[in-house]
Parts: sequence; C-alpha cells; structure tokens
Amino acid sequence: MFLTKEEESILNGAHGEIKALALKTIIKIGESLNAERLVDVSHVHASGLSYLTIGDAGLVFIESVVSKNAKVKVFSTLNPVGMDLDDWKKMGISEDFAEKQKRIVELVLKLGFDPTFTCTPYLIRKPFPGEHLAWGESSAVGMANTYYGAYTNREGGPITILSAIVGKIYEAGLHLKENRVPTVEIIIDGEIDLTDPSISGALGIIVGEKIKSGIPLFKRNRLTSFEAIKSYTAAVGANGDIAMSVIDGITPEYKDLIKKAGELEKVHIDANELKEIVKDSIDYIPDVVLMGCPHADLEEILNFSIQIKDCKKINVPVIISTSRYVSNKLNEMGLLQQLEEKGVIFIKDTCPVVSPFVSLKFKNIVTVSGKSLFYLPRMHDVKVAIVPFNKVGEVVCRKK
Ligand code: F3S
Repeated sequence: MFLTKEEESILNGAHGEIKALALKTIIKIGESLNAERLVDVSHVHASGLSYLTIGDAGLVFIESVVSKNAKVKVFSTLNPVGMDLDDWKKMGISEDFAEKQKRIVELVLKLGFDPTFTCTPYLIRKPFPGEHLAWGESSAVGMANTYYGAYTNREGGPITILSAIVGKIYEAGLHLKENRVPTVEIIIDGEIDLTDPSISGALGIIVGEKIKSGIPLFKRNRLTSFEAIKSYTAAVGANGDIAMSVIDGITPEYKDLIKKAGELEKVHIDANELKEIVKDSIDYIPDVVLMGCPHADLEEILNFSIQIKDCKKINVPVIISTSRYVSNKLNEMGLLQQLEEKGVIFIKDTCPVVSPFVSLKFKNIVTVSGKSLFYLPRMHDVKVAIVPFNKVGEVVCRKK
C-alpha cells in the first residue's frame, strides 16, 4: 500500500505505540481488501459500545487502548449504549450490568469521544457530499452514503476506535466512486404510501431479503421523506449487507451514478408484500409500543404528538428512544413534559435492541421500525408486529 511520509512515521512509532498499532491494523485490513492507499476521515462514529453486545472481551479491548494514552484525532461520536446513563435503575438494569456499562462509557470518554450515544450522528454533524467518514452503525452508514452522499463503509466497532485515533481509514469499498454504482434496480408495483416510515422500513426488510448485498437503485422515487429514507436505510442494512442505495432526487451523486450503471437487473416488489408485513391495524393490546429505531428525531416526535393530541392519557405504554440532543430540544420546547404527562416514556443513550430491558419486561411488542422488527425477536425472544407510523396514535389511544 502506498503510504505518505506522515503515515510512514506513524507506522514507525514516531507518534507513539498506540497510533502505530492502530495504523498497522487499518493497513492490514485495507490490504486484505486491495486498498492502494489510506484516506483522511473527518468524522468517526463508533459502534459496539453496549455491554450487552460486546461483553467483557469488548471492555478489555477498550481498556487496552486507553491504557496506552490514546486520544481521538478527529471529531468522533458514540453509538447508543446498553442503558440510559441517568435513568438506568428505572429500566430495571442490574447493578452488575450498569457497572460494566459505566466503565465502557468512562473509557471511551477518556479517549475524547463526544458523549452523543446516538445512532443518528448525522443530526449532530451533517456529513458533506464526498467527504470520507469511518462510521460503524449500519443505519447511520446507510444515511451517510445514500442521503448525504458522504463516503463510508460499515466498519466494526474496534476499527472505528482505531480509526478515530489516527483519523484515517483504508481506501476501499464505498470510499471509491466506482464501487458506489447501483447494481440492481428495485421496482415497486402497486399503490402504497412509501413516505410512511413503517412501510419504508418494511421495504428495507424485503429489499435486504431479496438482494442480500449490492447497491439498490430507485428510479421514479416514491421514498421522498427524510423519515422514510432513515427507516428504509436502517432496515435494509439490518437484513442485508447493503450500506448504500441510490435514490432519484435524494442521493447527491444520482445522475453521475446511473450513467455509470447502464442496464441493470430489475427486482420487482409488490405493494401487497409490504401490506402483509405492515398490518393496517392490530386486534390485540400489546405490552408496549416502541418507537425510535433509529433514534427518534423532532419531526417524528412532533408527528406522534399530533396523533395523540386528543388523548388525555395513552392506554398502551409507549417508549421512545432518542438522543440526548433531541431530548434536550424537546425539553426546551416543553414537549417532553407534555408527552410524559400523557404517559409516554423517553429513554436516551440507548435503545430496545442494544439494552437488556426489553426481554426483562415485555413479550408482545408493537413497533414502527423495520430494523426493530428484524432484530427484537432475534435479540430478545419477543413477539413483534409493525403498524403504519401514521396509525400508531390509534393503537395507543384506543378504548380498551
Ligand atoms: Fe439505533 Fe438501536 Fe435501532 S442503535 S438503529 S435504535 S437498533
């Protein structure tokens, strides 16, 4: 691999042992992917921070990095962890789990990561088209490539930490324009409202199922809302090795990329396949409705608050996972208190998939997220149904 003078001196240990080790690891991975050089990254987003998913092995890895006095070199954010760092007791989290989780958080903050604890880092710092990132959360990676036109692969948690320390990543995969060209065209037959995030989430599940990997193309796009694309990219990244889609009117490089694509294989999806996944209504009372996967943004929460405006108290528990950033904004607007008075519970820093609280408390769940529909049964052995986002108010406010 070609290395600059600066990279060679890092590799030779002139900038310390941990930087040399971090760069060596990134180069090794890059070489296995035939990368010819490294690129500078402007923002790293680390995933794999929940004690539930990384366990003691992950904790030991982070401890070893911190013990060598490492510090992040570029702006670096953190994915959700396994509990709300302020209200973990209310979630029923055990002391033992909390201790380990707090230790992980203490360590990554020592490295200099921003205490964001969210899977929506693009709401904190908006990526620019064409800039290189090293992000490790599949839903955020999908948004970075598809919606913002930034360049990132889906990195593993340890690599994101090493990349943050040197501010570099290997130039392979989606860092190269030629690998961003669509590989298959998706055609949706029949009428369905793809701007509803639940339905676009279901679309992500089906696209992932049908094509498994590659870069789907959507011409004559009906996935027009930010919320719909956020939900779609999360779901398609969960059920497939798909870190980018090319969407007419959305993806900044659209025109350039379809010129390079030429004639593509076409995969048809019938609107009825989506209707089978997203039921228009449910005829039972769930234990809980979970919202905020990816973490809920202001728009979604405002939309939900309008849906339940005539409802004094909700009669099905609703838990919304969101970021500290959005939670603070809701607080400033007075909306947090208004919704809490109606019975809505907010959790920040974490989410139902990466926290143990779901399996401790619930069996029968309703969601509005394709990614949750995919992961919750696999991670927590629970029953999950998905309803249209625009109908969730009816589910939580109906008479028993
Ligand atoms: Fe985010 Fe957790 Fe869903 S990390 S995308 S809310 S699984």
